[in-house]
Amino acid sequence: MSSPMGFSESLRIGAIDFVSPDEIKVVLDIEAPDSVALNAGHPRPFPRLNSYVLIPNDDGYLVGQIEWLTVERSNYPKRKGTQQDFGLIDLPFPLRKMSLNPIGTLANAGARDKEGNDTYRFRRGVDSFPSIGDSVLVPTQRQLKAIVESGENRRIKIGTSPLAADATVMIDPDRLFGRHLAVLGNTGSGKSCSVAGLIQWSLQAAREAHPDKTPNARFIILDPNGEYSKAFKATEGAKIFSIEPNAVTGSAQLQVPLWFWNSAEWCAFTQASGRTQRPILRRALREIKAGRTSKPNDSPEEKQLSLRRYLSSQLITIRALIETNAIKTEESKFGYYLKSVKEDIDGKIALHDDLAAELNALSNAINEALVETFKSFFNKVTQETVEFYRSFTEALVMTICSALDAALGKIGGIIYQEGPEEDCPIAFNIETLADHIDGIAAKEKSSQFVDFLTMRIRTMLSDSRMKPLMGGTNEVTLDAWLTNHLGDIQASNGTVTVIDLSLMPAELIHITTAVIARMIFEALQRYRKMHAERKSLPTVMVMEEAHSFIKRYKEEVENQDASAICCQVFEKIAREGRKFGLGLVLSSQRPSELSPTVLSQCNSFLLHRINNDRDQEQVHKLIPDNLKGLLRDLPSLPSQHAILLGWASELPVLVRMRDVPKENQPQSDDPDFWDVWTGKKPREIDWKDVADDWQKQDTAAPTNEEVSELSVNEDTRHTCITDDTDDIPF
Ligand SMILES: Nc1ncnc2c1ncn2[C@@H]1O[C@H](COP(=O)(O)OP(=O)(O)O)[C@@H](O)[C@H]1O
Ligand SMILES: [Mg+2]
Repeated sequence: MSSPMGFSESLRIGAIDFVSPDEIKVVLDIEAPDSVALNAGHPRPFPRLNSYVLIPNDDGYLVGQIEWLTVERSNYPKRKGTQQDFGLIDLPFPLRKMSLNPIGTLANAGARDKEGNDTYRFRRGVDSFPSIGDSVLVPTQRQLKAIVESGENRRIKIGTSPLAADATVMIDPDRLFGRHLAVLGNTGSGKSCSVAGLIQWSLQAAREAHPDKTPNARFIILDPNGEYSKAFKATEGAKIFSIEPNAVTGSAQLQVPLWFWNSAEWCAFTQASGRTQRPILRRALREIKAGRTSKPNDSPEEKQLSLRRYLSSQLITIRALIETNAIKTEESKFGYYLKSVKEDIDGKIALHDDLAAELNALSNAINEALVETFKSFFNKVTQETVEFYRSFTEALVMTICSALDAALGKIGGIIYQEGPEEDCPIAFNIETLADHIDGIAAKEKSSQFVDFLTMRIRTMLSDSRMKPLMGGTNEVTLDAWLTNHLGDIQASNGTVTVIDLSLMPAELIHITTAVIARMIFEALQRYRKMHAERKSLPTVMVMEEAHSFIKRYKEEVENQDASAICCQVFEKIAREGRKFGLGLVLSSQRPSELSPTVLSQCNSFLLHRINNDRDQEQVHKLIPDNLKGLLRDLPSLPSQHAILLGWASELPVLVRMRDVPKENQPQSDDPDFWDVWTGKKPREIDWKDVADDWQKQDTAAPTNEEVSELSVNEDTRHTCITDDTDDIPF
């Protein structure tokens, strides 16, 4: 065995030529290897881009990653020792140079391992830089492993690093999932396999760490291609939901009841215009959810609760209108509103004997205010009676508030809703929504402006394909839905939920995805709020094909469409999810189309092969300058290889992801032309079967006429939006 100095000399490959805080240039020795390095004890390709070299310093070694390699013509060969021979004529000589990224420090850990070898510890950051002329060394196998296998809580093995002696790459799940992960790469580069693998390896590691219990883990996969059910059904017993239940894949009916939708989602779906339709739609939802339409068979408690909600909602609304002075500035509108409240109250008196006196007093107070301010005159020109209300005094309105207060006082007091009441997921009879909107519009004399709105709602409800999804007959409760999708105590009903969105009609896919993602986020928000110690429930949500669901949108547009609403939900999750234990994993082949807000909130990246310039550019923007050299590898990565960088990884590493066995891979449906052409794989055909199945469906789907009717309305809608916005106050 040679002396330490001699040993380190044998690893030398060059000397430093240039030093700056983010770049170190090295001139390679003439005798340094040019394809395979043998001096480190194991044959290893050298020099290779992105591989590591060491520069001895006070703390141990500075670790540099090779960013580029080049050859320069030099007049003088730099020969050492006895090789110097100044008697020869010097010819121009190729000189190899390379540039390094200083990435960290490898210190001697002091202790020795079982075989008596030195042990090392790697940390990010460099505090002492080398000077010109210092030696540069290739790391030994052990040093390389110490670099890649650094970091704490290395709990889950995800692959090996081909550039670092096949060291195992392990991650800390708290870091990987806790601050959102983006898996980016071209189609076929291995994203879906990596995502499926990350989940499977995580669950496997959790089981090994705690063999007597199933992991209390929650993964929810939003799967627009329908590829993940295959990967998780057999192994993890995943809960799978799809538009059409399927015995073969074991999927159950996906249900996203319409009463889950909040007002922004309704507005986006119905394309309600800002000035006229939105306020009416919001009010209709508020009133219906506030129990205006309590069902006749409700129990006394439910009836009382619905009355309490209704009165609370009116009180809050009226107080807000006093505050904004709308009782004076939009007096007629306020008058019609009060009139409709009075009609409701009068209808309720008979249903609530015990509260008859208070409700009567309330009705009288409203009546008094209306009588006081009501005016009408006969317009001789138009031959019409014009009716309107003059501005209401505060005293009149306060009397109404006191009457509301008094009635509420007898049934438990006001209920404050967090956020607008119309956004609360309270079950209601969806059939009544369009009628109720028509009713409100009629009272406000703006029926002509809601025609399209109610038409669109009615068309959707009449589409019987959608009935099961929207919670037709066998309605789910909110808690049952949460149990099914987020999992039970100790995740006893399964750790993985796959939501197969593949057969979803195009007009519903964004809105449904937005509703599901938002419901999960809000449920976790509320879980934490209710938890005694304010602890969150760790959950991972995976969004495949993220570029079509988390797509850049124009912020200045007034009426946001469903796709923008969907993106906004994910932006919110990206910004706030961490607080509530919700980690996002998004997978996409078009990073340049993704919302920049979401991308910039992702703290870890798993980058597969990316060829497209614009996409590479987008990725470059996310990465600190001194790591950009690493990304030059991106266009040439083989499939199943990826660069892991960011919060989850102590240093950026090239990973060869672990193999995912065929049966656990997501279904990748590349058509196999050749094998079918050449008869290697059979394909039976029975078009009759296909036709029958298709036509059976069609009785439920809209007829051709209905479809063309819809598209005509689609056109009129736009004119309608531009026409009506200015006409009606509100
Ligand atoms: N970790 C892996 N284990 C096994 N095979 C893989 C792995 N990663 C990629 N592959 C192979 O590459 C193919 C494409 O991968 P896939 O995940 O479908 O790509 P993407 O989702 O990026 O389009 C897969 O069908 C599989 O054969
Ligand atoms: Mg894929």
